[in-house]
Amino acid sequence: MSFCQSLTTFRVVAALFALTALSLPSNTASAADCTIPSSWFTDGIPDPQDTAVSTNFNSFCKFHTWVWNAFLWSMEEQDGVVRFETFPTQQQTIDESFDPVLAPGIPTLELRAAKDDHAIDSVAQAGTDGLLVAQNMRGVYYSQYITPKMYDQVTGLDWNNAEGLTNAPSDATFNFGNIEYKAAWAVVDDSFSVPGAYTRPAMIPELATVEVNGVPTIVVPADPTYVQVEVALIGLHVVGWINKHSEAIWASFSPIDIAPIVPTDDNGNPTIEPNDPVSTTGTPFYTANTTLADCNQTNLPIQRLNDTTQEFRIATQACQFYAAGTIGGFSTGNGKAIQQLNDSALTVIPDGNIGKGYSEIGAVWSTADKTGVSKVNSTFQDALVGSNVLSNPVIETFTQTQASQHNCFSCHNSLQYQPSNPTIKPLHASMLNLSHFLMQIYEDTYQQE
Ligand code: HEC
Repeated sequence: MSFCQSLTTFRVVAALFALTALSLPSNTASAADCTIPSSWFTDGIPDPQDTAVSTNFNSFCKFHTWVWNAFLWSMEEQDGVVRFETFPTQQQTIDESFDPVLAPGIPTLELRAAKDDHAIDSVAQAGTDGLLVAQNMRGVYYSQYITPKMYDQVTGLDWNNAEGLTNAPSDATFNFGNIEYKAAWAVVDDSFSVPGAYTRPAMIPELATVEVNGVPTIVVPADPTYVQVEVALIGLHVVGWINKHSEAIWASFSPIDIAPIVPTDDNGNPTIEPNDPVSTTGTPFYTANTTLADCNQTNLPIQRLNDTTQEFRIATQACQFYAAGTIGGFSTGNGKAIQQLNDSALTVIPDGNIGKGYSEIGAVWSTADKTGVSKVNSTFQDALVGSNVLSNPVIETFTQTQASQHNCFSCHNSLQYQPSNPTIKPLHASMLNLSHFLMQIYEDTYQQE
């Protein structure tokens, strides 16, 4: 899959790097102090676009506190909708039709990249041929946004079309303070809910089964029927360009305990056998007592859709492979900071706050920018900091343990971008290629010669 232009990853090297090469003062001292400030709920949540620039990011706690700041601000209610939902979509960015004054209507969600008329990989997760099916047998949908300030930079510099992206200088970077999002939504109703999750109505396209070369294939039809359903926010990727980090910090949140965590040793290897159950407790994406061997299976090609009920035949059993997205889990400095912030969220965030039912899965970034050190044409895999094996179990379900795709930078990097369509020319290497929001715009607006 061309989205994933990564080199081979050496998990052990990455882990050693995180443990030894990184000597951050405050993860040895008093990591116990890493909590969400209660002042955020009395004086207001700081604008993360400002704190991205004003913070001196010199400890795990500082990075992860910013991540929580950005998440809670993005989830703040604004006139009955959540703030990030009022932000520009891809189509508005292409059209330059975003109007901050207009309240958003009911959103239309997509199955992955919104490409019509594609076979099953269009209902699949990024980079895989798998699609996540919840325990109610319904598929999971997505939406993507960028902040209005990021929209201003992108449209102002003509990066909202293929020609402008081609002409962008190879040392182009996003402004610090920019944030982009990918949200994952499950269909819910009276008989199936996701505890702690924010819910809202949305329009989704109905799926259909068609025969492709005699093989039943599940597609989003070319001219789909849209139906209104109730959806729950089951995962939110929050990616922010923070001071001295032109690669951005890549963070992910989900409702607390969305998937059981596989017990692993300090090298990241499971300490249970394939036939052992991962947990005796079920979740909306995991049946109690499912074995490790049955976790995170795509179930293709035996998956089927009932076109009438829109229910799939086989539910996905989602398990989270690495606690805190880190080899070594919660016992590492990075893992401790995440756990302490997540614990503090339970007590500090007031009841009724939409962000309250969520926890941080993890966040990954790279070493600070230094003059003269180019981050262009990099997979970042030899210089990851933080959650070096970060996947969200309900967004990157199937790639969690694939060494070439097991963290955000495996797919989001600054290499030359090669679309899967061979008639589209590759886009030259730059830091802009980190954003698949822009890479999709590149493909969608590419003019054939
Ligand atoms: C297997 C490849 C892959 C991995 C791993 C991956 N992504 Fe993505 N990501 C994509 C693709 C492809 C898109 C474009 C939308 C789509 O097709 O779903 C995307 C879209 C996004 C977006 C929307 C804006 C943008 O940059 O395009 C965000 C935000 C995002 N991903 C964050 C993350 C985070 C955080 C992680 C790690 C927890 C991650 N991704 C891991 C492939 C990947």
